[in-house]
Amino acid sequence: MRLPLLAHLLFLLLAAGREVTGEMVDRKPNFVLMMVDDLGIGDVGCYGNDTVRTPNIDRLAAEGVKLTQHIAAAPLCTPSRAAFMTGRYALRSGLGSTGRVQVLLFLGGSGGLPPGETTFAKRLQQEGYTTSLVGKWHLGLNCEQRGDHCHHPNQHGFSYFYGLPFTLFNDCMPGEGSDIMADLQRALGNLTMLLGVGLFSLLCVRVCGLLEVSLWLLAVLVFLSILAAAVWYIPFKRLQTWNCIIMRNQEVIEQPMTVETVPQRLLREAQHFIKRNVDQPFLLFFSLAHIHTPLFKTPAFAGKSRHGRYGDNLEEVDWMIGQITETVDSLGLANNTLMYFTSDHGGQLEDADSIIGQKGGWNGIYKGGKAMGGWEGGIRVPGIFRWPGRLAAGRVVDEPTSLMDLYPTLKYLAKDTQPDRQSDGFNLMPLLEGKVERSEHEFMFHYCGIYLNAVRWHPPGSDSVFKVHFFTPNFSPPGAGGCYDTKICLCHGEHVTHHNPPLLYDLFHDPSESRPLTPDTEPRHAEILEQSTKAVERHRDTLTDEKGSDETHSQPNADAGSVQSQMTLDRILWRPWLQPCCGTFPFCGCKEDTTHI
Ligand SMILES: *[C@@H]1O[C@H](CO)[C@@H](O)[C@H](O)[C@H]1NC(C)=O
Ligand SMILES: *[C@@H]1O[C@H](CO)[C@@H](O)[C@H](O)[C@H]1NC(C)=O
Repeated sequence: MRLPLLAHLLFLLLAAGREVTGEMVDRKPNFVLMMVDDLGIGDVGCYGNDTVRTPNIDRLAAEGVKLTQHIAAAPLCTPSRAAFMTGRYALRSGLGSTGRVQVLLFLGGSGGLPPGETTFAKRLQQEGYTTSLVGKWHLGLNCEQRGDHCHHPNQHGFSYFYGLPFTLFNDCMPGEGSDIMADLQRALGNLTMLLGVGLFSLLCVRVCGLLEVSLWLLAVLVFLSILAAAVWYIPFKRLQTWNCIIMRNQEVIEQPMTVETVPQRLLREAQHFIKRNVDQPFLLFFSLAHIHTPLFKTPAFAGKSRHGRYGDNLEEVDWMIGQITETVDSLGLANNTLMYFTSDHGGQLEDADSIIGQKGGWNGIYKGGKAMGGWEGGIRVPGIFRWPGRLAAGRVVDEPTSLMDLYPTLKYLAKDTQPDRQSDGFNLMPLLEGKVERSEHEFMFHYCGIYLNAVRWHPPGSDSVFKVHFFTPNFSPPGAGGCYDTKICLCHGEHVTHHNPPLLYDLFHDPSESRPLTPDTEPRHAEILEQSTKAVERHRDTLTDEKGSDETHSQPNADAGSVQSQMTLDRILWRPWLQPCCGTFPFCGCKEDTTHI
C-alpha cells in the first residue's frame, strides 16, 4: 500500500501546482454518467419517496440540479438508449419497432446501432477524451459474422468497454422464467413434444410390425424434429449461454455470467477507470445492470429495506452511486466533473409475483410505465446533474428536458464546434446554470415503437404543458392500468386505440393525466390540437428529408425516411454465425478470474 499512497500524494502535489499555474482552469470537464435500468421516478427519495433510503442519490440532487420533467425518448431500453447515445429519436437510427418485438432479443442477431451513427462518446473521443462504458449496452454486436463487432461499444466511441453487451434479464438466472418470446417458446416446445411422441409411436408400430408405416412419413417426421431443435431448442433453451455474457473490450470473458458478482465487478471497473484517468479528461458511462429483473440477492442488502427484494435492490443502487461519487470526490475531481444520474425509462408495472411481490419500478403519481407509449410514467425519469463550482446547489428545474439533451450538452462542454446532423436535443447548460428560464423544448414527441403516439407542447409564456395522445396502447385486462395479460403493451394494430379527437391533458395542472380536457374545460382546445398537429408535420419533414446515417445500407422506409430498420425479424432472430462465444462454438463457456476482488 505504501507505494500507491506515495504516488497519490505526489499526484496531489502536482495537481495543486498545476492549479496555481492556471492550467486546471482550461482543462475540459470530466463526465460521469450513471444510468439505472428500468428505475421509476417514484423510487427515489428526492423525488418524493419517503420509505426507500436513497441518501446518496439525494445528496447529488442537494449538491446539484434536479430536473423534474426529464423525459426519455422511448419507454423501452433499446430505443431509449439509442436516442440517448445519439441525441436523436431512435427511429432516425432505425431502432424504432413496427411490431411485436420492440427491443433486441439475441446477441446473435444482426440489428443494432448502425456503424455510421455518431454518439456523444465518439464526439468526445475526437476531442481527446478517454472514454469508457461500464455495464449494460443492449445496442447490438455483430453485422455479418462473429467478431466483426460492427455495433460494439468500441465502434461507437468507447475506447474501453467492460460489461454486458446485452442486458440482465430473467433467463440469466435459471428458475426465473423467460423474458424472450415466452409464448412462442411454449408453442414451439409443445410442437416438438408432439413430433417426438408421433415419431416414437410410429417407430414402435413399425418395429412391432403392427402396421405398414411408410419410410417417407418417418423421414418427414425426423426432418421436422431436427428443424424444431434448430429453431427452438438451440436458440431458446440455451439463452443463458447466448445472451448472458460479460465482455472486456472485444473479448468474451465470461459465458454464461455469474449474476451474483456482477454488481461488485461493474463497480470495481468503474472506479478503476476513474482512478486511471485522474490526469486527463474522461467520459465514464456507468450503465447499471440494476434494477431490471432478475433482482439481485446481494447479502449486504438482502432484507434491509421496507420494500422487499425490490427495495433492497434500490438501496444497493444508491450505495453504488455513493461509491462512485466518493471515488470522484476523494480523488479531488469533484469541481471538474459533471455527474449525471438518470434511468433509461420508467418502471414496469406488470412485473410482480406472489412470492417476491413488487419486481418493477414505481412511477409515483404518473400514469403508466415501461412500454406504454407516451404515458408519463414510462418516460418521466429522474435527472440529476452535479458539478460543484459550476452549478448552484439545490436548484430545481421544472421545464421539459430530454435524455437526448446530453449529447449537445457534452458536445458544448467539450468545446466541440464541429457541425452535426439534425439533433433532437438542446444544450442544457443555460437551464442548469439558471441563465435562462425556459427550455428550448417547445414540442416533444413521444413514440410507441416507430409510431408517434403523443406530443407535448409547452406554449411560450405559459406554465401549461399540454400532452396530446393520438392513440394509446390498450390495457389488458381493460382498465387494468397496464398490460398484465401480455406483460408488455404493444403499439400496433388491434393493440391500440386511436382517439379522434385526440386525448388532451395539461400536465401542469394534472400531472397524473387523469382529467382529459374538452372544448368546454379548455378554451384553447382547438388551437392546441392544431398547433400540435402542425408540429408533428414539421417533425415528420425532418425525418423524410434525412439521408440514412448508414449511407451504404440505406433503403427507403415508409416511416423513417431512408434509414433501414434494425428491428426487422430477420435482424432480430438468432444466427449461429453471429453468436459471440468463448471457446469453440457451440460449446461456449468461460469464467472471469475474480479471485482478486
Ligand atoms: C417508494 O418506493 C417503493 C419501491 O418502489 C414503492 O413501493 C413505494 O410505493 C414508494 N413510496 C412512495 C411514497 O412513493
Ligand atoms: C470547489 O468549488 C467550490 C465552489 O466554487 C469551492 O468552494 C471549493 O473550495 C472547491 N473545491 C476544491 C477542492 O477546489
